[in-house]
Amino acid sequence: MGRLDGKVAIITGGASGIGRASALLFAREGARVTLADVERAGGEEVAAMITEKGGDATFVPCDVTSPRDTARLARAAVERYQAIDVLFNNAGIAGVGSTEETDEALWDQVMAVNVKGIFLMTKAVAPYMIQRRRGVIINMASSIAFVGLARRVSYAASKGAVMAMTLSMAVDFAKHDIRVNAICPGTIHTPFVDRYLQESYADPAEGLAEISRRQLMGRLGSAEDVAHAALYVASDEAAFMTGAPLIIDGGLSGTK
Ligand SMILES: NC(=O)c1ccc[n+]([C@@H]2O[C@H](COP(=O)([O-])OP(=O)(O)OC[C@H]3O[C@@H](n4cnc5c(N)ncnc54)[C@H](O)[C@@H]3O)[C@@H](O)[C@H]2O)c1
Repeated sequence: MGRLDGKVAIITGGASGIGRASALLFAREGARVTLADVERAGGEEVAAMITEKGGDATFVPCDVTSPRDTARLARAAVERYQAIDVLFNNAGIAGVGSTEETDEALWDQVMAVNVKGIFLMTKAVAPYMIQRRRGVIINMASSIAFVGLARRVSYAASKGAVMAMTLSMAVDFAKHDIRVNAICPGTIHTPFVDRYLQESYADPAEGLAEISRRQLMGRLGSAEDVAHAALYVASDEAAFMTGAPLIIDGGLSGTK
């Protein structure tokens, strides 16, 4: 028995990192998965990996900042699988820079993908969940919603907004038996963090050592660490959990 047997899941940002690991894990646990991403090659590769192992997955190209794309994605998932049980709003981008270093274009881009993307995707999927009086929405926040970190002003604002939006959505959707929760990872070693290290440190290897030292556990998390947390929230094991942040940060919030 898989922990998501019979469930249909949409995962945005499924082509890379945490989304990719979650798609592979959800499929292994019995979910039928629709992966959405702006990166076609990576998304198709993950869908193929799942089907090769006997699972059921589809890739749908989708920019979460486009209401046309998000509506098309929701329709495509329902046409293929007749339902949507789990929406994992995982797609996100980094904004590196302090207030002085961040220009308006970067601010707008980070807020568009990380905040408006979740709003649009949820708006597109909610009617299908409301109709069936069931559903789970998982919003990707970050431990940066609770802990100050250097030179991340746009990113921190976006993830704080995701956390607050999650609390509000949890209230609005409770009457429809839809649970809404947030996942708050610390620093997770994915291509996202590799890009951050390249942009922020003259020596990315030294940068990696430095950000690993600030974890109580002395290492960064893996995409699989976060995928397992998302699996729990997506499953019926979390039936009494709504409006909550699940922090998976290797001790970041308890240190330094
Ligand atoms: N890696 C970390 O340390 C960390 C920590 C906390 C939170 N997060 C969050 O986890 C999520 C996944 O991050 P990751 O580390 O796996 O990054 P990643 O860069 O490996 O994957 C992000 C994916 O989102 C996709 N994406 C970007 N913009 C999109 C758009 N407009 N529409 C659709 N897809 C889009 C990218 O193409 C990519 O495939 C993000 O929301 C990120 O903010 C990451």
